[in-house]
Formats: sequence, structure tokens, C-alpha cells
Amino acid sequence: MTPLALTFLLFAYIPQILAGSQNKGDTCDPGNNRLQAGTYQFWSDCNSVTFCNDTTHVCDLKGCRKDDFPFGYKQDDPDIPDKCPKGQFCPDEGSHCRDLIEVGQPCQFNRDDECAGPPNFKDLADTTGRGLNFNGSLCLNNICTYANKTAGSACTVENTAYTGYGPNGEFLDIVSRGDCMVGLYCDSVSLQCLQSKALGESCAADKECDSWNCLSTGVCGVSAATPHHFGIYVYILVCLGIVGGMAATLSGLYFAHRKQREIERNKRAQYWREQNAFHQNLMNMRETARASILSLPKNGGSRDYSREVSDDSHTPTAPKGSGLRHYLADDGSSELDDGLMYSGKQNDGRF
Ligand SMILES: *[C@@H]1O[C@H](CO)[C@@H](O)[C@H](O)[C@H]1NC(C)=O
Ligand SMILES: *[C@@H]1O[C@H](CO)[C@@H](O)[C@H](O)[C@H]1NC(C)=O
Ligand SMILES: *[C@@H]1O[C@H](CO)[C@@H](O)[C@H](O)[C@H]1NC(C)=O
Repeated sequence: MTPLALTFLLFAYIPQILAGSQNKGDTCDPGNNRLQAGTYQFWSDCNSVTFCNDTTHVCDLKGCRKDDFPFGYKQDDPDIPDKCPKGQFCPDEGSHCRDLIEVGQPCQFNRDDECAGPPNFKDLADTTGRGLNFNGSLCLNNICTYANKTAGSACTVENTAYTGYGPNGEFLDIVSRGDCMVGLYCDSVSLQCLQSKALGESCAADKECDSWNCLSTGVCGVSAATPHHFGIYVYILVCLGIVGGMAATLSGLYFAHRKQREIERNKRAQYWREQNAFHQNLMNMRETARASILSLPKNGGSRDYSREVSDDSHTPTAPKGSGLRHYLADDGSSELDDGLMYSGKQNDGRF
């Protein structure tokens, strides 16, 4: 499937997955409120800007939001409801803000932010940015719990299988959460809090590693969020590659043009030699003719003949040779110029 088709499918189906189709004022059944299989996304009969009122069974406009950019609203929509103030939370359905839930009371799936923090929240709160708990408390198996279990003590674990979509089709991604303090993990077999493992120690799941990254080889690897840095040699190689590429292109063009120029020059030189040979032949013929005329017995018109011939001998040489000679001299080939100069001088000497 092409990326375009995939994008189209995503955009075509997401609204139907995220929310029902009932508009404000339409009837709905609160019993249909549920989390979607695989994604655990909240779903109700009502559309994305309304919720199903428990008492009237009618879709009402939402009274609060939990996301900065809630789905289903335009960017500057004046109807976007407010987020809840500190000490309150907005439930999944978005009906209205409620007070935080005390420890041991029911909460919504994965909504650690619905639970009130413990008195020692400063010690228990997760500061790793991995969302291990919210202000020291978490919603575990739909019950508000404190993440306060110490090493070696019994703990509670919640394993959730999410459906992932990869290049080879669907796969299961199991996320395991526990109520141990930050720096410990709840072992799924012994149900005890154990110390998180350092880099290189053997592991079976991401949660066992400090870095939160258990490699496929079964050892803890560096955090997947670690930025990848290249050595200085990579930058040097890239620069050398760029400069080398430019130099190779320039010298390639230089040599190609030089070869082309050589061919053209040879052609012109050949032409010049031919012309020169013709000229020589013509001169020789003229010399022969003159000699034979002079050797004739003297007549009245002999002076006129010789004068005509000598006049003629000057006229054709000067304009014909000069144009090409100048052209070749511009070419800048010393070797060729020497040859031409030589033949030119020869001509000058002769005439
Ligand atoms: C449901 O609708 C009734 C009547 O309009 C209202 O009083 C009540 O607050 C609504 N329930 C919620 C959860 O908003
Ligand atoms: C954490 O919980 C404590 C105790 O309930 C509360 O005073 C504090 O404001 C909470 N902090 C945050 C960031 O919610
Ligand atoms: C964790 O918090 C609960 C609820 O306040 C409390 O009963 C329990 O003793 C605490 N456990 C530890 C180890 O502090």
C-alpha cells in the first residue's frame, strides 16, 4: 500500500474510531462508553465535541478537556472547553471537572492524573519524564495507588497488551506497570519490588532497566532517547568528500575540454597545412611558368608579361594567409604557432 493510501485510510477512519456519530441533543446509551480494543482509546455514541449524559441519555457539549489540542475542534474554535484547575481532573468523557480521587478509590484506565498525590509526593514523584507515576500516585488496575513500595516488599503489577502496527502487520506491545518507588520495578513473577538494572545487565523487559531499554540480545542498552552523535572524523570525511567531488568535476571538465580543444586545433592545423601546400604548388607553378617565359627568345611583349606575373604574385598572398594565422595565434599553442610562424616567415622570405 502506498503511503498516500495509508494516510487516506488513517484520516478516513480515525474520526469513526475516536468518537461516535451522535450530535448534540441526539440520544445515546452511556452503557456503550468503552475503551477500544488494542488502543484503549475512549469511545462513546456521541461525537468528538459532545459526551453522553448519564441521567438524560442525550449528547451534551463537553464541559472540559484534558488535552492541549483536543480532537474534533478547529484551532481557534471558541467552543473549546477549558482544562481543569489544579486539584481537579477532566474524565475521559469530558463531561465536567471533578476533584482528585483519594487513594484506594476507582479511577479510569491509565489516568494517573486523576489520583491525589501522597503526602510525601516530593519523594515519590517520577522526575524521569517516563510517566512512571503522576505526582507519586498512579491508577493501577483502575484503583488509585501510591507508588511507594520499597525494595523487596510485595507489589501490584498491571500488564496491558497494546496492538502495534508495524511493517510486518500487527504485533502486541505489552506494557507492565507497578506501584514500586522510582528506581525499582515490580517483578511479574515474584511480585516483589526489585532494583532496576544498570547498562549491560541481563533483562527480560524494558521496565527492568534504568535506561528503560532492554535490547533484543537480553541486556540493558542505552536509553532509546539518547541522541546519536557522530565522531569528528565523519564531518572531516564529509567535507573531504564534498571538496574532492568538486575537484574531480572541475578537473574532469578541464581535461574533457582540453581534449576537445586539441581535436579542433589539429583540424585547423591540418586545414592550414593543406592551404599552405596548395599555395606552395601554385608558387612553384608560377616560378616554373616565369622561368619558362624568361627563357623564351626576347619578344616585344616580354616585359609586360613579367610585370604582370610579378604584380600577380603579390596580390593573393597577403589577405588569404593572414585571417587563419591570426585565428590560430589566438589559440595559444606555442608549438603550432612556431610552425605557422615558420611557414609564414618562409612565405615572407620568398615573396
Ligand atoms: C445531565 O443533564 C442534566 C440536565 O440537563 C444536568 O443537570 C446534568 O448536570 C448533566 N450531567 C452531567 C454529567 O453533566
Ligand atoms: C502533588 O500532590 C500534592 C498533595 O496532594 C499537592 O499539594 C501538589 O499540588 C501536587 N502537585 C502537582 C504538580 O499536582
Ligand atoms: C504506601 O501508601 C499507602 C497509602 O497511604 C500506605 O498505607 C502504605 O503504608 C505506604 N507504604 C509504604 C511502604 O510507605
